[in-house]
Amino acid sequence: MARTFQTVGVVGLGTMGAGIAEVFARAGLQVIGVEVNAEALERGRGNLDRSLDRAVSRGRLSETERDGIFGRTTFTGALDDLRDADLVIEAIPEIMDFKRALFTDLDRVCGPETVLATNTSSLSVTAIAATTSRPGRVIGMHFFNPAPVMKLVEVVHTVVTEEGLAGDVATLARRLGKTPVTVGDRAGFVVNRLLLGYLNHAATLLERGVAAKEDIDAAMKLGAGLPMGPFTLLDLIGLDVSHEVCEVLFQESRDRVHAPAPILRELVTAGLLGRKTGRGFHSYDDVARPAAGAGGKLGVGSVHVLGEGADELSARLSAAGFKQGEAHEADVVIALSSTPVIEHAVLLPHPERLVGLHLVGEDIAEVVSTVLTVPEVARAVGDLVRVLGRTPVPCADRAGFVVEALLYPYLNDAVRMYDAGYASMEDIDTAMRLGCGYPAGPFEMLDAIGLEVVRDGLRALYAEYREPFFAPTPLLDRLVTAGVTGIRDR
Ligand code: 3HC
Repeated sequence: MARTFQTVGVVGLGTMGAGIAEVFARAGLQVIGVEVNAEALERGRGNLDRSLDRAVSRGRLSETERDGIFGRTTFTGALDDLRDADLVIEAIPEIMDFKRALFTDLDRVCGPETVLATNTSSLSVTAIAATTSRPGRVIGMHFFNPAPVMKLVEVVHTVVTEEGLAGDVATLARRLGKTPVTVGDRAGFVVNRLLLGYLNHAATLLERGVAAKEDIDAAMKLGAGLPMGPFTLLDLIGLDVSHEVCEVLFQESRDRVHAPAPILRELVTAGLLGRKTGRGFHSYDDVARPAAGAGGKLGVGSVHVLGEGADELSARLSAAGFKQGEAHEADVVIALSSTPVIEHAVLLPHPERLVGLHLVGEDIAEVVSTVLTVPEVARAVGDLVRVLGRTPVPCADRAGFVVEALLYPYLNDAVRMYDAGYASMEDIDTAMRLGCGYPAGPFEMLDAIGLEVVRDGLRALYAEYREPFFAPTPLLDRLVTAGVTGIRDR
């Protein structure tokens, strides 16, 4: 018979735990929130308070509803109070020893039928389950930050999960207004495996000096349509959690793209964990700061445009009042290109005046400096891009520049995961759309961009960086060779 859940315990009331408690209480369940001491309990109550106040002030919740939610929620420092709960979910720090100790205690305290769930980001649910006398009734229930907003719950079953339990927990997730995706117990499950690989890669591009963090954020938000840039998102997730997830991914894959970028470790060691500590990659005490490279007066005498689409851009620049000149004498030469531009530069008498320009979507343009470009020329082109109504993303002359260098390996990894049997294409798409607010899942993106374009872009990235992770997966290669255009149609 299907289980029903009416009373739920939430252990750990930090950002995620408080959000999860809110989600359960909003759906009409009785919630028992547990924290280690009175101070942490007060902080947890404050987290819930603030979130509900915000919802009331925005008119998304009435005061009566808020009072109802608080009426259904109790706060305690005693695990014993969970003895009659139907389900207990843990949201404590990502440290295996802490989790194991907690599950041993929960196993002792709770009735034999209580389901024990973990909100772990990446640790092995199987290893956590093994510390209890009921491994069949231990499951992963993975929420996404901010829990009240993100619609996905990954339901993580292990090889010993009791039959029917994953289905019952998925039904519970639907009752909470979420969409469940059921996955096996593999490092990072679906979302974190794909997401953290991409976020770590962004940190690596930053370390390599390909672009500034503000510009990488702008590129992925405006150029790829993601709700947040990678560094804003890393700060939201928490750099300690992000570092830990990468570490776990690396332990399983042994692939250096998952090895946490050194800058993550440095920031974590410095206690700069992101939003929760007021500073991580970005600082949260002052809000608007100009993007790197912004500003400067437009000082372009004459411009020459070359590459595909040059006529159209030249016409737009003329209409905006810029004088056109020949390539050998113009103050600025713009090479429209989606690939590195140094080979165009070296053909010119003044290679220092050449800047690459890659228009991505409708909102951004990657402004590419070669090793020869003088900074004033790159800045002038950045200003010119603003006149065209786009946000400039200054970057180095590397394959893929910023957007494709980050997006294509992520798409490749999704194909690799599908091929390895992690989940169906549909589930992976749903997970990324609902877990991270992406406008489309990776397979939808692949079909929209074109398999061959992505495959060729990956080949270029591989040729440049010699990173095996960037080489097109054999499945992608085979599909292109076979002339398949829609990966989801196969
Ligand atoms: N708590 C409750 N509600 C919140 C919230 C919070 N912390 N943050 C935002 N909201 C609500 C707002 O109230 C607003 O609702 P309304 O329109 O009804 O008033 C809505 O969300 C939109 O918020 P904003 O207008 O303030 O801001 P945005 O439009 O920029 O949206 C966002 C904020 C929803 C966070 C959006 O930027 C987003 O989807 N970002 C991606 C987040 C993401 O990827 N999360 C997953 C991280 S991975 C993870 O958590 C797994 C872990 O294991 C590592």
